[in-house]
Amino acid sequence: MKTRIAVLVSGGGTNLQALIDARDRGELPHGELSLVVSNNAGAYAMTRAARAGIPTALCLRQKGEPKAAFESRLLAILADNRIEMIVLAGFMAILSADFVSRYPNRIINVHPSLIPSFCGEGFYGLRVHRAALDYGVKVTGATVHYVNEIPDGGRIICQKAVDIREDDTPESLQRRVMEQAEWILLPWAAEKVAMKIWEEKNNA
Ligand code: GAR
Repeated sequence: MKTRIAVLVSGGGTNLQALIDARDRGELPHGELSLVVSNNAGAYAMTRAARAGIPTALCLRQKGEPKAAFESRLLAILADNRIEMIVLAGFMAILSADFVSRYPNRIINVHPSLIPSFCGEGFYGLRVHRAALDYGVKVTGATVHYVNEIPDGGRIICQKAVDIREDDTPESLQRRVMEQAEWILLPWAAEKVAMKIWEEKNNA
């Protein structure tokens, strides 16, 4: 039995697409993309999931809804689908310590910088690349890490550097970091962690 993976998304879903493409190439042998959950009704990632034949679920945080209530609905969706591992792929919400403690070493995230630079609360999407350009660093990149109770603070699984060009804009840099780093790192790390979970199950 492959490790059952849920991919949590909020937006365009190019990292989800990289996982789907890796699966289709046979590069995710220990993991099954079992569910895609979005916290945003308009996320194009949901179209990508449906096209790839992956079940989807929407889990929206209602206005004024406490985070704990949102997360308990999310946990119920994951439990219903017997999810064993979670991949955050452009998921724009910070999960609480309580949530994270339910899946120790079983949640991974892709972040578009070389952690510990340009990370933590408030650093997401284009903001990360804008901050790197504003600072004037010459090299940035992407990181895949385990998720713990500290935003972007969990153990690093892999990183890849990307050179910054003189004429980069946040958009051009975002695209290059995705192409040269994120879309390569995330499927690789997902397989590595899925295999680890699979081995734990089979040696139990
Ligand atoms: C990606 O660049 C991802 O690393 C970033 O959002 C983008 C989502 O794109 N995530 C974060 O900033 C999380 N802190 P996608 O929806 O096309 O995969």
